[in-house]
Amino acid sequence: MKQTVYVKRGGLLPLVGAVLLTAIPSPAAEDVVILRQADMKAMAAAAKTISGMFKDPASYKAAEFRWAADTIRDRSGGVLSGHFASEAASPQSKAKPNIIEERDRFDRIANDLRDYAVALDAAAEKNPGSMPASMRMKPGEAMGGGPIGTQVRNERELSAMPAEHAFHLLLQTCTTCHARFRME
Ligand code: HEC
Repeated sequence: MKQTVYVKRGGLLPLVGAVLLTAIPSPAAEDVVILRQADMKAMAAAAKTISGMFKDPASYKAAEFRWAADTIRDRSGGVLSGHFASEAASPQSKAKPNIIEERDRFDRIANDLRDYAVALDAAAEKNPGSMPASMRMKPGEAMGGGPIGTQVRNERELSAMPAEHAFHLLLQTCTTCHARFRME
């Protein structure tokens, strides 16, 4: 009895191995998935840093704030888009295949993210000391942009709004893209 099981296993294993081998993507495709996931994690850490400073303005340090904003700036826009240039058939990836079909929309969201990060960098450059009230949102300030509001497309408007507002729009940009282009 035991022997039959052995024989069956011996017959099946090479087959399973062959199927696994063909499912393994090329090393290049794997690398880009690892790279873009690492970039996303770095952006998440940067967003957390900035969020912490808005929650506790006394902890604001312009250099750290800028570094975090630049971390997002340098991983968004064309850099982000470039990491999703072709469908990476990696089982590790949570990217949806519709990125290729909806290229323009995906790229636009990636560019929006960059615009907001640039605005945050500029705000911290302008305010090297403590965080001024002008960087904070006023109570009850209307939230523009994002999936429901009107997208802020004007650069002047973006630099005129409080940095905290730009930061909220930045976070909405992450959410908007994930809702459409990332698997649960
Ligand atoms: C233009 C679209 C887009 C934007 C903007 C975007 N993401 Fe992502 N994000 C994705 C996609 C697609 C994935 C899945 C990537 C994969 O697994 O191949 C992802 C994955 C992630 C992950 C999981 C990484 C992992 O280790 O698996 C984190 C965390 C993340 N994003 C955070 C963020 C944060 C924070 C922002 C905003 C600052 C952001 N993302 C903006 C599309 C986007």
